[in-house]
Amino acid sequence: MSTFDVNKVRADFPTLTQKVRGKDLVYLDNAATSHKPKCVIDAVSDFYRNYNSNIHRGVHKLSQIATDKYENARKIIKDFMNADSTEEIIFTKGTTDSMNLFANSFGKAYLKADDEILISHMEHHSNIVPWQILCEDRGCKLKVAPINDKGEIIWEEFEKLITDKTKLISVVHISNSLGTVNPIKKIIDAGHARGIPVMIDGAQSIHHVEIDVKELDCDFFAFSGHKIYGPTGIGVLYGKKKYLNEIPPYQGGGDMILSVSFEKTIYNELPYKFEAGTPNIAGAIGLGEAIRYVSELGIRNIAEYEKELLDYATEQVSAIPGVNIIGTADKKASVLSFVMEAAHPHDVGTMMDMDGVAIRTGHHCTEPVMRRFEVPATSRASFSFYNTKEEIDVLVKSIAKIIDMFS
Ligand code: ALA
Repeated sequence: MSTFDVNKVRADFPTLTQKVRGKDLVYLDNAATSHKPKCVIDAVSDFYRNYNSNIHRGVHKLSQIATDKYENARKIIKDFMNADSTEEIIFTKGTTDSMNLFANSFGKAYLKADDEILISHMEHHSNIVPWQILCEDRGCKLKVAPINDKGEIIWEEFEKLITDKTKLISVVHISNSLGTVNPIKKIIDAGHARGIPVMIDGAQSIHHVEIDVKELDCDFFAFSGHKIYGPTGIGVLYGKKKYLNEIPPYQGGGDMILSVSFEKTIYNELPYKFEAGTPNIAGAIGLGEAIRYVSELGIRNIAEYEKELLDYATEQVSAIPGVNIIGTADKKASVLSFVMEAAHPHDVGTMMDMDGVAIRTGHHCTEPVMRRFEVPATSRASFSFYNTKEEIDVLVKSIAKIIDMFS
């Protein structure tokens, strides 16, 4: 049993203590977005109330405060990921933006016709579509490693797909629709053994697993702020300096230039070379605060407690006749996707909402995963460290009630 004090933690999250349709809110849609602790809400509000200003541009006091706080957030993130330098931490709008920046800039610098990019069958659309756009443009090929019935990468098949033509491996760390935790260290080592850089989509892992980019030795890593208890519209692309220096900028405009003339523009240094335009300043400051908050709780404590929740929920839900869990990997994070013989996932979601239970239903931006498991959609409960076993009991009761009603 973990010693995590969930009641103490819950008091930090104002949105959790509300009624929905007359019932206590049971928020189990954390893989879509997490709620925010007071300290994050206060940090964002403090920016707009007290020192709202643009950054890197003003000599005045407020601009200096805003710049310091923005850059301090970058430093917090650098320390949290154990990156070498703040030059390797680029602020983006979120994981999707990071992936698009990366595909565009890396693609322009390194990929040409017939080169291959290797992904897995469980990728989020944001790690599929940017590559398809690039492949159309450059004539490269997207290779997809298959997954087994548990929702795990089939390692022998994955290895076979690494060839002399592979120029990049880009894989998800934790699947948002299956919960599978992929063996990213093994994947990174396999890529590096053939001189291939590796990108990790960490949208669902940054808040569940300790990420040490030096230990992992990944070349790129993307995540979103709002999944790790920070604001929406802010995210990070981590990249090794040697690559970031070589790849071209993604967008042009303010902050990413040193000087502009009609004859020649000189780009700014890292990380600003990739941060065109006024960024989401309050978002970055809020994200820094979220990461400080999570670090204080300790990712290991969080992971241990969330595993307890997942095990508890899996045991209960799998015991209900007529319910099938989709995604039964040996290593899973706190995502429980399921289908019910009695009802379509959308009906399940709507019925649960009547009980105050918030889950996500649909394809979860992973349509190929749905096709692989031959389901149109799933119902997905996803847990955070602020959830309780009592809330899982409410979920289970709600499932039983739906089965009763539909059969
Ligand atoms: N990709 C997010 C999810 O899994 C939005 O719900």
